[in-house]
Amino acid sequence: MLPDRQVKVGVLGATGTVGQRFISLLANHPFFVVAALGASERSAGKPYAKAVNWKQTVPIPSAVRELVVQPCKPEHFQDCTVVFSGLDADAAGDIEAAFRAAELIVFSNAKNYRRDPHVPLIVPLVNPSHLSIIPQQRALHSPPLKKGFIVTNANCSTTGVVIPLAAMEKAFGPIESCIITTMQAISGAGYPGVASLDIVDNVVPYISGEEEKIEWETLKILGGITETDDGKKAFDMHARHPLRLSASCNRVPVIDGHTECVSVRFARRPPPSPQQVREALAAYTSDALSLGCPSAPRHTIFVHEEPDRPQPRLDRDYQNGAGVSVGRVRQCRVLDIKFVVLSNNVCIGAATSSIINAEIAIARGVIQV
Ligand SMILES: NC(=O)c1ccc[n+]([C@@H]2O[C@H](COP(=O)([O-])OP(=O)(O)OC[C@H]3O[C@@H](n4cnc5c(N)ncnc54)[C@H](OP(=O)(O)O)[C@@H]3O)[C@@H](O)[C@H]2O)c1
Repeated sequence: MLPDRQVKVGVLGATGTVGQRFISLLANHPFFVVAALGASERSAGKPYAKAVNWKQTVPIPSAVRELVVQPCKPEHFQDCTVVFSGLDADAAGDIEAAFRAAELIVFSNAKNYRRDPHVPLIVPLVNPSHLSIIPQQRALHSPPLKKGFIVTNANCSTTGVVIPLAAMEKAFGPIESCIITTMQAISGAGYPGVASLDIVDNVVPYISGEEEKIEWETLKILGGITETDDGKKAFDMHARHPLRLSASCNRVPVIDGHTECVSVRFARRPPPSPQQVREALAAYTSDALSLGCPSAPRHTIFVHEEPDRPQPRLDRDYQNGAGVSVGRVRQCRVLDIKFVVLSNNVCIGAATSSIINAEIAIARGVIQV
């Protein structure tokens, strides 16, 4: 059940690229209300409007302008039912652990806990069922927790690609090979990000750690959860149908919106036709939508017929940045099918995912409000 009253939330890393997106998205949320903001010692103690270098196209919401930024310590967030984290990975590990230990509920964008065997890595339009690991995460914490837990969302490029892959696996069964080439926006590196002299008039064919993240995270997200005889749950990493992935990541001079060229081979023979794949993608719906989550996109995947779409400038705001756009679905002469997917890295690739994950956790009663 979704609440009919306000639910107080906090934002860690509130001054950063992802943090600012949280602030903009939460300003119009039907039940989440921002009650506390946290950032580094550089920002703490200042009113938000003075601490932040605001880079959004909408003004700073009036409700947070004068809110004083706090150090990222649990005692300043005790009133918050949910804490969203857009913290830099260098800081996120210790801070998020301290928040969980203080019985706070953290939805994180950082990479630190994505590989933790008891922390779900959830792309809300794909695998919200992985929330079922939460009781185990609480029970195995030392000391065991009653309320606190961490949920992470995926790397922004992983998020864009797993949504169409999940739709294809749902319709046609396991994918066994996948080759991905990304063209990633500058905002994916935070602010100020890549130096202008490195990225204008240029393509940088390397993003540290990114290829490994896509290749590993996809398996955790698309895989299931197994249960041993003693009731212990584990992520199966797609092991029942081994999936081989190869990613090549590039930074391109685009502000927002990651474009990815993807080729897949299905286990099933003969494979589906491009038209069958287009229909399956367009028909894909999420549990988040059926649960009534207010931030879930009405349509998860828009399938373009035009030969020159999707494009970041034209398509990154599809469904307020919560949906993804796919185009150029066609036969691959090496694998089976190839296509292009575009996702908004700061929305569904980051803040929007955390917000929908929290909405799902509330709708499913994982969080009591
Ligand atoms: N950008 C994207 O598209 C994207 C997508 C998915 C995931 N992510 C992940 O999301 C996280 C945030 O990314 P971003 O792009 O928003 O980074 P960013 O613009 O560099 O912002 C980092 C935030 O962390 C805060 N911070 C840094 N050191 C801190 C410390 N020691 N203690 C407390 N707060 C500290 C900063 O506060 P100050 O302003 O006070 O320094 C700022 O609010 C990263 O883990 C990133 O990998 C980013």
